[in-house]
Amino acid sequence: MKHKRVISVLLIVMMILTGCGSSKVKLPAQTEVTDQTLKDVFAEHGMKVGTCVSSRVTDTQKYADLVIGQFNSLTMENAMKPDYILNQKESQAAGKPVVELNSEALSILSWAKTNGFSMRGHTLIWHSQTPDWLFRENFASSGPYVGREEMLRRMEALISGIFEELDDHGYLDLFYAYDVVNEAWMEDGSMRTSNWKRIIGDDYLWYAFYYADRYAPESIDLYYNDYNEQYKAECIADFVETLKDDDGRYLIDGIGLQAHLFTEDDLANYLDGVDVLAETGLKLELTEVDLGLGKYEGAKSATDANLRVQGQYFYELFEGLFKRVDEGKLRMDAVTFWGFSDGLSWRREYSPQLYDSDLDPKYALYGVMQIKEHAGYESAETAK
Ligand code: GLA
Repeated sequence: MKHKRVISVLLIVMMILTGCGSSKVKLPAQTEVTDQTLKDVFAEHGMKVGTCVSSRVTDTQKYADLVIGQFNSLTMENAMKPDYILNQKESQAAGKPVVELNSEALSILSWAKTNGFSMRGHTLIWHSQTPDWLFRENFASSGPYVGREEMLRRMEALISGIFEELDDHGYLDLFYAYDVVNEAWMEDGSMRTSNWKRIIGDDYLWYAFYYADRYAPESIDLYYNDYNEQYKAECIADFVETLKDDDGRYLIDGIGLQAHLFTEDDLANYLDGVDVLAETGLKLELTEVDLGLGKYEGAKSATDANLRVQGQYFYELFEGLFKRVDEGKLRMDAVTFWGFSDGLSWRREYSPQLYDSDLDPKYALYGVMQIKEHAGYESAETAK
């Protein structure tokens, strides 16, 4: 018995020392491979490139340095979602939703301004991460829900409130895009249930864009943002046609494709979805890109072979997008990754990002940057 324990302790120590059996293949550093940063590569196609951040990122030197070096646009991972920007007590006192940026949001905005970043706003009208009290009489935590007219007034106050609050703090001009509505449609073409839809009715979507169009400055593009976009493309394309005012003018500027992808997703099918959405003539942005190894029900481990597949997938995805942009078939002015390091990702079990947990570059990075010889294809030039 004792013997066995000693052997297993030894085995564990050996696994730790050898990196749990999967020895990491270290790729050449980015500066050895290219003079370019991610920003440079996207700028060649007239695009910005962003990442989501929390204050953990902006407050940690090594993360902050990487983000400043590679990206020029930021989305807050959580700090500007409705749950974080609405103050219950003040809403009760004022009798209308009161928007108040929290200290994390303010510190990220100050950091963004100091370091010259543009911002994507995320998000206003969503079924998730939105306080339930927003929908109840007197903004109480329990009790009856309000009716349609009151909820429309509250929606208007929430939407106008965020733009006023950003303006009051001197940050409004950092924003070039805002996700007005997030994730309203299902894959089967039906509308997702939510408190917004239940209380206001299906036209809550039209009103959200109507108010955003009224209160956002012209310089901020207004977006509808969703996931599994390749399965919802026809539905979203039909939906945006309804977002017009009485003169037939669009109340929306762009469609956000979250692009939470997997290496087993069909890439041709994904690009077909992009083409369907591009046909609307609106701008498109990839807003939350990550590319998990394997598929949703089955994460694959970060072996060299699987990481190569990821690099190639990213190479081909961005080759396809850049080509469409350059040929004028796609209006896409920014791409945002949902993080940059596997170690910080909300889907870290799928190793979905461009840098690993040590911030070393992956084939994925070189794939996005269109550096084919380091993107994971088997050839003499690939990393040793
Ligand atoms: C969705 C949302 C994001 C974020 C991710 C998970 O994609 O749009 O804000 O919550 O889920 O991190």
